[in-house]
Amino acid sequence: MKVEGASAYGLPGDLDAVGVPVFQGADGPQPAAGVTADIAGADVPAVLDPVWCRRRGFTGKPGQTLVFHPVASATSRLPLRGAGGPGTDDRPRPTTVLVGVGEPDGLAGDRGVETLRRAAAAFVRTVGEGASAALLLPRELRIDMAAAAAAVAEGGVLADYRFETHKTGDRPGRLTRLVVTTEAPAEAVAAAGGGARGARIAESVMLARDLVNEPPSQMTPQRFVEVFARRFRDDPAISVEAWDGERIAAERLGGLLGVSRGSSQPPRLLRVEYTPIAPVEVDGRIPHLALVGKGITFDSGGLSLKTAAGMEAMKTDMAGAAAVLCALDAAAALGSPLRITVLTPLTENMPGGRATKPGDVLTARNGKTIEVLNTDAEGRLVLADALSLAVEAGPDAIIDVATLTGAVVVALGNEIAGLLSNDDDLAGWVVAAGSRTGERVWRLPLPEDYRSHIDSDVADMRNTGRAGQAGTIAAAMLLAEFVGTVPWAHLDIAGTGRSAESTRYLAKGGTGFGVRLLADLATSEAFGRSLVRRG
Ligand code: BES
Ligand code: MN
Ligand code: ZN
Repeated sequence: MKVEGASAYGLPGDLDAVGVPVFQGADGPQPAAGVTADIAGADVPAVLDPVWCRRRGFTGKPGQTLVFHPVASATSRLPLRGAGGPGTDDRPRPTTVLVGVGEPDGLAGDRGVETLRRAAAAFVRTVGEGASAALLLPRELRIDMAAAAAAVAEGGVLADYRFETHKTGDRPGRLTRLVVTTEAPAEAVAAAGGGARGARIAESVMLARDLVNEPPSQMTPQRFVEVFARRFRDDPAISVEAWDGERIAAERLGGLLGVSRGSSQPPRLLRVEYTPIAPVEVDGRIPHLALVGKGITFDSGGLSLKTAAGMEAMKTDMAGAAAVLCALDAAAALGSPLRITVLTPLTENMPGGRATKPGDVLTARNGKTIEVLNTDAEGRLVLADALSLAVEAGPDAIIDVATLTGAVVVALGNEIAGLLSNDDDLAGWVVAAGSRTGERVWRLPLPEDYRSHIDSDVADMRNTGRAGQAGTIAAAMLLAEFVGTVPWAHLDIAGTGRSAESTRYLAKGGTGFGVRLLADLATSEAFGRSLVRRG
């Protein structure tokens, strides 16, 4: 899908559909101000008949759409759901789609931006395949035009995502063009810029979704490395290094080695370095952010084997690694001013004859020992090594992303990720970025006295907490052992990494959660400055 920006007066002549924002109001749904009777030849109502709308269940609530039936003689270009048959007018006009955007007051702040994402998604889903469509932004917006356009592009492009690499036969087409449309001609340039930014970020999100959705026997550790080695090959700002099993052993990554022992696929440790061309400098220093992602390309649970149902979606267990690398992909494309180091430990977790056994003790990169009581708590083992390496890189902050615990799904469900951090300022930045991007996070505590939950009889710590108690916190307590005093934030995306249904701008399967949040931070000069100021 191509995303463009234009004013309502400068729209292309070959549009198939025009989306008109409609507010919810006390007197029924009404088109936003500035919606004129003729937008690119579409029949657009200046007022709506509340009875007509009510009969069709359309109130203007965010996420609702309704195909508008213009005068009887007009022809709609598209055979849209709910639209009448072909008319007799020989000039085909764009079909008008009413797009609910809620109360006028709601179109402000982060919530308003999310409303636009969802409205664009609903519009794109209504327009369907093969079409060229324009969505008008309401005059009542109290949102920066570039941010609004980026939101429309994200919501529209991501709602159009499908994973069909392994489908044979005829596949439905996509929307070909989405024009983010402003009423004022002077704002068209900002709309075009924001639209391009949103579309570029969405591209990285879709790559993360593709990687998660790919069958696990295809997306092996080596294959995963190859994807990014190829993708970053021609970028002079990025260097890629991959360690094989031998190197991983030589570097004493005992957690990663221990998890990989039961698999016939060799492990990898992928390290990607981004050096900004146009850096932000604070006292002559470039802020340095380290991103770490859990890359279990398939989690069977190992000898502590999962059930068949529990294993079904475990190709998703590399979603953290995909998220951090795809965030870098977006951040680099958008010219991030920060230095960024990405580290992803990659392996399968399998129950082969050489697999690590419950009771075994592993020594992580930083020398600390971990008693493995449950081989299904493998994420924290591979992250222990990767976080140790991240600390060695000397960053100003570390953010890790991992499908780490089923417990976070119990606590926060599938829409909100768990955030755990040793630094209030960094946690605040992550929460704010989550709000801006609609990738919601909620902070859980790291109480010092809960450290006893992971006390081991024989090693420095064990890899399980107490049955049925604060599983997400126990996992994060273990990670905290490997970040030292570096400001660190951990995102547990076990619930948000995949979606059970295609809804709003999500598609069933991998969500790409974290890409937009991290890309937001990584392209923020203010965030970069905050990293160095703490000293
Ligand atoms: N990859 C899983 C966590 C997970 C669960 C991700 C559900 C996505 C959906 C992780 O490796 C795991 O198995 N965690 C265990 C830890 C337990 C054994 C201490 C869990 O949460 O049950
Ligand atoms: Mn597991
Ligand atoms: Zn796992």
